[in-house]
Amino acid sequence: MKRIWIIANWKSNKSLEEALDWVVKVGPETPRSENLKVVVCPTFTVLEELAKEIKAKDYPIILGSQDLSPFPVGAYTGEEPASLVKVFVNLAILGHSERRKNFAETDQMVAEKVAQAISNNIIPLVCVQDEKGEVPKGCNLVAYEPVWAIGSGTPDTPENANTVSSNLKQAKEVEVLYGGSVNSQNIASFLEQENISGALIGGASLDAEEFLKIIKIASEIS
Ligand code: PGA
Repeated sequence: MKRIWIIANWKSNKSLEEALDWVVKVGPETPRSENLKVVVCPTFTVLEELAKEIKAKDYPIILGSQDLSPFPVGAYTGEEPASLVKVFVNLAILGHSERRKNFAETDQMVAEKVAQAISNNIIPLVCVQDEKGEVPKGCNLVAYEPVWAIGSGTPDTPENANTVSSNLKQAKEVEVLYGGSVNSQNIASFLEQENISGALIGGASLDAEEFLKIIKIASEIS
């Protein structure tokens, strides 16, 4: 028995209609369990409506964001500050490799985002690309995501992901998730590894049926 996180990273996908359709399919089938944390991270545009739907139906789904501003409220055009986002989310993915690559996000910026998350009671989930990746102070949840495995259909081996996770855990007290081409066919092989506490899932999380298969497998292992 271990606590398992299954986290959907929708990236820049899904209209409000598509997002609600996913939630009404996944919500009722998601097991209610202390050891299984199911999180969905949509775009900011649909957070409010999804939060309403999840609350109204009491679905065991946690909402997360895919980013946060490194700044508090103020004159920062286009940014979403943690103190406003916290109304809808309990977790934020920070430092994803797509943000580091496309938006020049640095370790320093990620550390500032983590500090904003923590001071607003949002759990920061920091993505690192290998065991040398910097885990900012106060961050207890890390996703090991090798860039070459993201969206490629070629995941890392569960054994190597376990070794990297073990090394990350030796450096700091953290729970480590694996991310990169996880699907219903390979999820069990990752969750069975001693040092892996869940998965961050992009492509395979978009399809409600596929995501439900992943949740069912995770609930049997958790
Ligand atoms: P993928 O994405 O599951 O589509 O490989 C994972 C991620 O980028 O978090």
